[in-house]
Amino acid sequence: SGFRYRPEILQGIPDHETTYLKQYEHWFILEPEQLKRITDHFVRELEQGLSKEGGNIPMNPTWVMGFPSGYETGRILTLDMGGTNLRVCRVYLSSRKRHFEQIQRTFKLPEEMKTGTGEQLWDFIAGRLELFLEEHNITSEHDGTIPLSFTFSFPVKQKSIRSGILQRWTKNFNVSGVEGHDVVPQLEAAFLRQKLPVRIVALLNDTTGTLIASHYIDPKVKVGSIFSTGCNAAYMEECKLIPKLENAALPDKASVIINTEYGAFDNDRKVLPLNPFDWQIDGESARPGTQIYEKMVSGLYIGEMLRLILVTLHEQGKLFKGLDITRLRHENSLEASFLSVAELDVSEDLGDMREEFTESLSLSPDLNDLKVCRYLIGLVATRAARLYACGIAAICKKKNMKRCHIGVDGSAFNKYSAFKGRAAQGLRDILDWPPDELDWIALNPSEDGSGVGAALAAALIIEGDHKANP
Ligand code: GLC
Repeated sequence: SGFRYRPEILQGIPDHETTYLKQYEHWFILEPEQLKRITDHFVRELEQGLSKEGGNIPMNPTWVMGFPSGYETGRILTLDMGGTNLRVCRVYLSSRKRHFEQIQRTFKLPEEMKTGTGEQLWDFIAGRLELFLEEHNITSEHDGTIPLSFTFSFPVKQKSIRSGILQRWTKNFNVSGVEGHDVVPQLEAAFLRQKLPVRIVALLNDTTGTLIASHYIDPKVKVGSIFSTGCNAAYMEECKLIPKLENAALPDKASVIINTEYGAFDNDRKVLPLNPFDWQIDGESARPGTQIYEKMVSGLYIGEMLRLILVTLHEQGKLFKGLDITRLRHENSLEASFLSVAELDVSEDLGDMREEFTESLSLSPDLNDLKVCRYLIGLVATRAARLYACGIAAICKKKNMKRCHIGVDGSAFNKYSAFKGRAAQGLRDILDWPPDELDWIALNPSEDGSGVGAALAAALIIEGDHKANP
């Protein structure tokens, strides 16, 4: 038929009606050789990020300089500002090994907060935190304050774990007055405005929290990664291999967790196979030219990618003939969950998928259209998963880690069932395991980086402080 892969899902549709899909295969199917080339370039960019000159990938030292032993204790408040939600937890680390308890509450972060002013955003956060404190009757410790560990999932340059200058917004956030500033005093000022006795003791990235939390449970975990609204990873690096830390007075054997911020990989577009839809997504984003890799991989953009393709095919008279696609024309009307629901439908009439179309888009495509959409979803999602594998493989190659576990968190990972297998296949294609071996590098679901992970990060620093000032 001329197709590179005989797509079973297209059976029953005459070949000549779908020849145009070959172009999409060409755009979205990544062969093992291509993945290897991308990964090798990725390794070089990780190195470059650690150098004094720097490169596309920020490779930010987090000042978390060790893993927890499992015996950390304490009681701490944690706050997580991710891409879509705000999560507040109270975590109790008990003296029993790897034992903790927590209470938590999640608040939706209103869309308008993502594009307003810094003050509005911080005041909103302080307000939700106040609700939580009241609800659970949390009062200050003996020193009159409540310690808080803040997970802020954006690239920050840290001179200590208690500070962080926002390098740039990602994930389509565009809040004024924050880029180039330390976010810690800004949020603390909002606490002060609302008379909350809260003090920030640690600032960390979600990938750092994930790495700490999953290593605490399973010491084989060497990389913490998020696959969600954004896509990123953190790992432990030896300080002597970080030329840009040259002037810091550090012990010989010191290591530090690096938040790679590798969503910025290939921002200069040397190896990633961008197609016209990728260019469009980047061009219409809040920050064109940044996070190029993330825009091809993460949950925030794969729905939009599919939407742009479907609209184009409709305009070319190939899909949804004679149907009203008004709702599909709305930017971001397709979320990543749409793709995962569609792929879960294995029925012959694709009934669930049809229902999803009616509900979220007021569209009722015929069976052939549904099949084509299903095929396209597979292409878009598989490319994302295989590109995701390149980042993980690059860290493993750089650190010469042949067997280890990767702790992965994020809704796009946990809720999109086909994703994990595809990413694992990508890793096999890149790293050439013997065919009948089990996965040498296993992607394991991790939870609670921003709860227990953030609490542990704070406990580690407090311990460190005690050692420094006994
Ligand atoms: C974006 C952020 C990064 C975060 C990731 C996942 O890439 O820049 O800090 O870890 O999203 O939330």
